[in-house]
Amino acid sequence: MREVAVIGAGMTKFGERWDTSFRDLCTEAGIAALEDANVAGEQIDALFVGSMSAGRFVGQEHVGALVADYVGLGGDLHVPATRVEAACASGGLAFRQAVAAVSSGMSDVVIAAGVEKMTDVGDSTDVLAGAADREWESFAGATFPGLYAMIACDYMHKYGLTREQLAQVAVKNHFHGARNPFAHFQNEITQSTVMNSTLVASPLRLFDCSPVSDGAAVVVVCPLEKAREFTDTPIKVLASAQAGDTIALHDRPDFSTMGATVAAGNSAFRQAKLERKDIDFVEVHDCFTIAELCAIEDLGFVPKGTAGKFTEQGETQLGGKLPVNTSGGLKACGHPVGATGIKQIWEVVQQLRGEGGKRQVEGAEIGMTQNVGGTGATVVSHIFRRA
Ligand code: COA
Repeated sequence: MREVAVIGAGMTKFGERWDTSFRDLCTEAGIAALEDANVAGEQIDALFVGSMSAGRFVGQEHVGALVADYVGLGGDLHVPATRVEAACASGGLAFRQAVAAVSSGMSDVVIAAGVEKMTDVGDSTDVLAGAADREWESFAGATFPGLYAMIACDYMHKYGLTREQLAQVAVKNHFHGARNPFAHFQNEITQSTVMNSTLVASPLRLFDCSPVSDGAAVVVVCPLEKAREFTDTPIKVLASAQAGDTIALHDRPDFSTMGATVAAGNSAFRQAKLERKDIDFVEVHDCFTIAELCAIEDLGFVPKGTAGKFTEQGETQLGGKLPVNTSGGLKACGHPVGATGIKQIWEVVQQLRGEGGKRQVEGAEIGMTQNVGGTGATVVSHIFRRA
């Protein structure tokens, strides 16, 4: 197996992008990534595109071919393009396919893209519900805010998490998002903003939820040994892990523990031969505030039931012991579902290059990502180091 490096990254601004089409979002992020990697179209061997539900969001299927065509890899170059789908983990999984293609020796220079254009449809809640068990959850009325609200109720009951501690996740992620020019929301908020916002699914309020967003993100990978032909700042992929779980939340033994995050995290740490204390910062899947608390516990950074206090003490904010979601996370940076996993990697690249600007983690050398599909039926996790 060959070692793999990220040599370029680009993203669009996330948000309500009514000015831009699905294909133009991909093209914008793709051009940014290719320019960043100093790679020409002729050098690209393969493309993987993560997209959860382009068919229902914009009526477009066959998006691998569409994206390849519009970034100039289709017609004359005939680059093989493959769509990858694992609900909100589609982006992270597309990246994992790109890593596998390079490490196996099948391809040299590979693009991993993620894209979603969600704001053009009125029934995004129903489209997203397709990531759960349609027959046993969605048909019974469970939405994603509803499912994560059940996780939050279970967690609060078991561990005594306070409403203030939960709100602090959103306050912290808006603080980071306000420092990210690509974020959907770039405004700071207070705990009372969260606690006085509209109730969505008790106990989750509007500001506990990630928004419905449009956006795309793209990264370029190649063998580590060739990376310096393209860039002076390659980012080495230390681990690529994936794990699964039951698709329905009600089949889990413990709502507050995401078994796939535990398994993917353990696998990632084994591959990287690292301990939790070696990680300088992490991008996790905070589709709802409760999900961030579960994630940092299930990845093993803090004991179960303590993430609320850890967050309240400021340890997950820039300057804390473990900065979490410096991009603004899904909450403030936005959550165009297929793009999120690649955006997390884009953020790791910025941080490890020292290009995080006002949200730079001082001395960042090792970063980690955790990308979730559904309520945790798919989890993808990667660890990266500045090469
Ligand atoms: N956080 C903060 N503000 C938000 C927001 C969010 N998550 N979502 C929308 N807003 C703001 C909008 O910017 C808008 O503000 P404005 O009036 O100043 O322009 C206002 O709230 C109303 O926006 P609208 O789009 O009408 O909201 P909505 O009520 O239709 O949707 C949610 C709100 C929470 C239901 C929706 O964002 C949602 O479903 N989020 C979860 C998405 C999800 O499940 N993703 C998959 C996770 S696994």
